[in-house]
Amino acid sequence: MRIIVHNAKCQGHARCWAQAPDIFDLNDEGYILPGDIDVEEKDELLASRGARSCPERALEIDRT
Ligand code: F3S
Repeated sequence: MRIIVHNAKCQGHARCWAQAPDIFDLNDEGYILPGDIDVEEKDELLASRGARSCPERALEIDRT
């Protein structure tokens, strides 16, 4: 699974990080770092929870 990061949409809510701090990296201002995230199978549940928690829909789940 992969998380496609639309970092231009990020408003710094940090809910993704609150769910999964080891998966979502934020910069010093609390905004998600650019670049898609490859997620290991064991982390998929956490990663999808984090992605779905973003109120700006900045984190797209890609299961292809
Ligand atoms: Fe940004 Fe959404 Fe996370 S606004 S910091 S990607 S919860």
